[in-house]
Amino acid sequence: MFDRIDPDKFATLIEINTLINSNYGDATSLLTQILESATRLTEGEASSLVLKNEEDGKLYFEIALGPKGRDVKKFSLNPGEGIAGWVAEHGQSLIVNDVETDSRFYGDISKSIGFPTYSILAVPMLVRDRCVGVLEILNKRGMKYFTQSDLQWLEIFAVQAAIAIENARYLEKAKEEIGYLRDQISSDQGYHLLIAESPDILEKLDLIDRVAKTDSSVLILGESGVGKELFAEQVHLKSPRKNKPFIRVNCAALPEGLLESELFGHVKGAFTDAVQNRRGRFELADGGTIFLDEIGDLPLKLQAKLLRVLQQKTFERVGSSDTVSVDVRIVAATNRDIDTLVKKGEFRNDLYYRLNVLPIYVPALRQRKEDIPALADFFLKKFCRETKKQMNGFTDSAMELMLSYSWPGNVRELENAIERAVVIAKEKTIGARDLLIGGSGPEHDEFRGKSLREALNLFKKHFIATALEENQWKQTETARVLDIQRTYLSRLIKELSIASTKE
Ligand SMILES: Nc1ncnc2c1ncn2[C@@H]1O[C@H](COP(=O)(O)OP(=O)(O)OP(=O)(O)O)[C@@H](O)[C@H]1O
Ligand SMILES: [Mg+2]
Repeated sequence: MFDRIDPDKFATLIEINTLINSNYGDATSLLTQILESATRLTEGEASSLVLKNEEDGKLYFEIALGPKGRDVKKFSLNPGEGIAGWVAEHGQSLIVNDVETDSRFYGDISKSIGFPTYSILAVPMLVRDRCVGVLEILNKRGMKYFTQSDLQWLEIFAVQAAIAIENARYLEKAKEEIGYLRDQISSDQGYHLLIAESPDILEKLDLIDRVAKTDSSVLILGESGVGKELFAEQVHLKSPRKNKPFIRVNCAALPEGLLESELFGHVKGAFTDAVQNRRGRFELADGGTIFLDEIGDLPLKLQAKLLRVLQQKTFERVGSSDTVSVDVRIVAATNRDIDTLVKKGEFRNDLYYRLNVLPIYVPALRQRKEDIPALADFFLKKFCRETKKQMNGFTDSAMELMLSYSWPGNVRELENAIERAVVIAKEKTIGARDLLIGGSGPEHDEFRGKSLREALNLFKKHFIATALEENQWKQTETARVLDIQRTYLSRLIKELSIASTKE
C-alpha cells in the first residue's frame, strides 16, 4: 500500500494502538489524540471528528481542532449536507482540493466562524460497513494538495477512531445494563419483612391493602426511622404491579442536575458524560412503582416536571424534546412537614395536592409500644444470625427499659440498640445495661406537665442512676464521684426509688 513507510507515521500508529488497548475510561481524550496525530501526519491546518446520531441522522461535531475549533462544535449537519454529509452517506472517502468548485461543499460554517476553507480530506469511520461518523482534515499546510497517501493514512486513523467509539459505546451500554440489573436484584431481594403487632400498624396495613389496588399516588409521612420505606414496599407488593420493578430514588441524595437525569434519563450529548442515550428511573419503573424518598427535598424545577408526570404520565429526557410516556405508580415519602414547606414556597402546592391523594401516616414507635417486643425479638434473631452468636432473649428489666424509653430515633434506633447489645452482651440474655439507652438523661417529654419539684427529682433520679450505672452500682465509689455522703446516696436511692437495672 505504501512505497516506503515513514517511521514517524509508523510510530504514531503503534502509539495509538497501544492507547486504544489501555484506555477504557476517557474516550474523548483518546479520540482527540487520534485526531491530533492524523492532522499532524496529513499536515492539515484544522480537523474535526463528526459523529452520526442514530436517532435524527444528523452529524454532530464531537471534536474540532484548529484555530476555530471551539466555534465549530456548535454546529451540526443534516443528513447528506456538506462534504462530511456526502462521505457519511456514501461510506466513501473524498479529496476535494478546491472546495469552491465542488457543489457538495457547504460553506456556511466556514463563513460563519471566519475560517476560510480551501481543501478538504474526508474519510468515513466504518464499523462493519456501517458509517458511524467522519474524520475531516482541512487545508493542507503550505497551500499544498492532499494526496492519495494522505487519504490512505487517514483511513487507518478512521478505523482506529471507530474502534475507540465502539468500545466506549459498549462500555456505556454495559454500565447501564449493570445498573439496571443491580436495581432489579436489589428490588427483588431487597424487600423487608414488616413486623406488625400494634392495632395502629395493623390498621395501616389494612388501609394499604385497599390503597394498593388503585393506581393513585401515595404519600407516606412520619418521623425518621419509623419504617416509611417498608410501607412503600408494601404498597407495591400488595398491588397488581408486584411482579414489575420497584425503583427507589432518594431525592435528597443527588444535586439537581444529576437527579434530573437520574429520574428522567438523558440523550447523547457531550461525549464523556453521555455517549449513549440513557433511560432514567421513571422509564426503568415502567409498569411498576417508583418510590420517591425524601420528596420534601425535591428541587422546585423537578417538582414541575414531576407534576406533569402525575398529570399526563409524560416527560422529556434531559436534552431531548421527544416526549416519553410511562405507566408508573408513584409512592413518595418524607419526614419533613410539607405543609410548612408549602407555606414557605419551597414545595409546590399543586404537587402536594396531587401527591397527597392517599396520605399514610406512620406513627412513632413510642405511640405503639405493642410493636416493641416483636421488633426486639426480630432484630435479636437477625443480629444473632449475622454475628453467629447464640442469645435467648431479654431480661425483664431490659424489656421494661425498652417499653418505657421514648425512642426518638424510632425503629431504627431500636434496631441499632439491639445490634450493639448483641455485640457487647456477655451473657446469653440481653440485660438493660447492654442496651445503652435511657442512661443519658430523661427525655424532654418526661418533663412535660411536671412541677419544678417533680422535674428536679426526675433529673436527680436519672443523674444518680447513670452515676451508679457507671460505677457498677458500687455505692461508696458512686458517692465519691458525686461528692456526697454514702449514707445520703443510699437515702436518695430509696426516696427516688432508683432500681438497679443490674440483674
Ligand atoms: N415494622 C418494621 N418491621 C421490621 N423492620 C422495621 C420496621 N419498621 C422499620 N424497620 C427497620 O427500621 C429501619 C428504618 O426503617 P426505614 O428506613 O423504613 O425508616 P424511614 O421511615 O424511611 O426513615 P427515614 O425518614 O429516616 O428515611 C430499617 O432498617 C427498617 O428495616
Ligand atoms: Mg427512609
